[in-house]
Amino acid sequence: MNAEELLDLCPVIPVVVLHDAAAAVPVARALVAGGLPAIEVTLRTPAALEAIKRIAAEVPDAVVGAGTVVTPAQAAEAAGAGASFLVSPGCTGSLREAMTGTGLPFLAGVSSASEAMALLEHGVTAMKFFPAKAAGGPAYLKALAGPLPQVRFCPTGGITPENAGEYFALPNVGCVGGTWLTPDDAVRAGDWDHIEALARAAAALR
Ligand code: 3PG
Repeated sequence: MNAEELLDLCPVIPVVVLHDAAAAVPVARALVAGGLPAIEVTLRTPAALEAIKRIAAEVPDAVVGAGTVVTPAQAAEAAGAGASFLVSPGCTGSLREAMTGTGLPFLAGVSSASEAMALLEHGVTAMKFFPAKAAGGPAYLKALAGPLPQVRFCPTGGITPENAGEYFALPNVGCVGGTWLTPDDAVRAGDWDHIEALARAAAALR
């Protein structure tokens, strides 16, 4: 799978924050059952790498990636844990090199034409648009499609079931990402049915 194929895998990439690795497998199973196979486990908690390991080992239908990759070391650690893709909120030269070095598809975050052009210079055409809503939302992305039609995005940050349609309507949006599929209270309560229902509704958004 390359990064362009990752954008086409499913309409929504769930962005997941896991405080307890024990929740990783049931959360992943619920998301897959709801029709969303790609799962971005954010490296914001001490449990994240172990969660990625468990999903990679125990949920074969899931495509688990690491999100919130902000340092070159984290890119290597995520790859070592078995991540199938990497997502970063922004990008630096050293982070781009580290992510490229893993051989994994990655979605590096950009929020301007210049940042997108810096990645284009290295042959990167699939990117995350972050923070999507705060950076200008669908209007901003639509404006980027004029001069940079070769770039496709996964907008993330402030996406909801209510506004996702405005992003899907754009030619330069492959999929969107968001945390609404795995509310913290549902994860802590073990309400996997609720997570599956949220995933099913999201999978039908496009
Ligand atoms: C991200 O890491 O991409 C964002 O925190 C997701 O933002 P959301 O909570 O608005 O979906």
